[in-house]
Amino acid sequence: MHVNETSHPTLVLGFADYREPARRLAAAAGMGYAEVEVHRFPDGESRVRLPAGLGERVILCRSLDHPNDKLVELALTASAARELGVRHLTLVAPYLCYMRQDKAFNPGEAISQPIIGGLLAQWVDALVTVDPHLHRVATLAEAIPVRQAECLTAAPLMADFLARELEAPVIIGPDEEARQWVAAIAGHAGLEYRVGNKQRFGDREVQVAFPDPPPPGRHLVLVDDIASTGRTLESAVALLAGTRPASLSVLVTHALFLEGTLERLRQAGVTHVWSTDSIPHPSNRLELAPLLASALV
Ligand code: R5P
Repeated sequence: MHVNETSHPTLVLGFADYREPARRLAAAAGMGYAEVEVHRFPDGESRVRLPAGLGERVILCRSLDHPNDKLVELALTASAARELGVRHLTLVAPYLCYMRQDKAFNPGEAISQPIIGGLLAQWVDALVTVDPHLHRVATLAEAIPVRQAECLTAAPLMADFLARELEAPVIIGPDEEARQWVAAIAGHAGLEYRVGNKQRFGDREVQVAFPDPPPPGRHLVLVDDIASTGRTLESAVALLAGTRPASLSVLVTHALFLEGTLERLRQAGVTHVWSTDSIPHPSNRLELAPLLASALV
C-alpha cells in the first residue's frame, strides 16, 4: 500500500490510549509522530484537536477496542483532517471492532459489521488491520468497503515466537472459527494442531469440546483471535488441563481480557498468557509495528 507519494513527510497521528504502539509504528515506518488531543466533556461528548502541519497524507493509528467513543472521535478527527487539507487518510486499527456481528442472529438485530464498515469507509481512504474476525465474509474489503483494505495476519510472528518459547508445542484452537489462525501458525512452524468445537449460550456461557484431544505430556498452546470475557479460553483450559500437559499456555492476537480473566486462567493452571500489542495489556509480548509498517511502504 503506497501512502507516501508526495514529498511531504507522512505523519502517524495517534491518540494517548494507543501512544506507545503508534510511536513504534512511526519509528518502524520511518515517519514522524504527532497526537490528537481528546477532551471528554462531563456529559460524555468528545472534543478532538489536531496538531498543525499535517501534510496531505496522514496515518491515523488507534485500535478500536471499547469502540463507541473511539468511533465518534475517529469521525471527528477524519473530518477535521480533511478541513485541514489532508487528502489521503489511512487508518491503522490493529484491532477492528464490530466484526463478529456479521449476521442477524435474532430477528430485528442490526448487522453491525457492514454498518460500521460502511461508516469507516466514509471516513478514511485506506485501512490496515490484523487478524480481523472474518467468518461469514471472505475478505476485509467486503466488510469494510474502503478503496484499499489491507488484512494482515500475526500468524507467522506467533509461530516464530512459539518456536523460541516452547519445544514442539501442540497448537489448539477452541472452535472452528479459530481454525484459520491455528492452521496458519502450525503450518508456518511445522507443528501439530487440534481444533475443538464450541457452543455459545450467551455472552458469558460457552462450552468447548475436544473430540480429538491432544496426547498427554505435551506443551499445549491455546490460540484464539480475541479473548473478550475469556469464557471460551476458560472452558477449553478446563478440558485441556485434564490431558496432563507438560504446560498449558494461551496466545491471542487481541487481548481484550475483560472481567478478571487472567487471574481465573492462572488459577486453572495456565502457565503463560501472551498476546500481541494490538490492544495494550500486561500480556503483550509480540510487537506488531514491523508488520504494520510493512503495509505502509
Ligand atoms: C469468536 O468466535 C472469537 O473467535 C472468540 O472466540 C470470542 O470472541 C471469545 O469471546 P470470549 O472471550 O468472550 O469467550
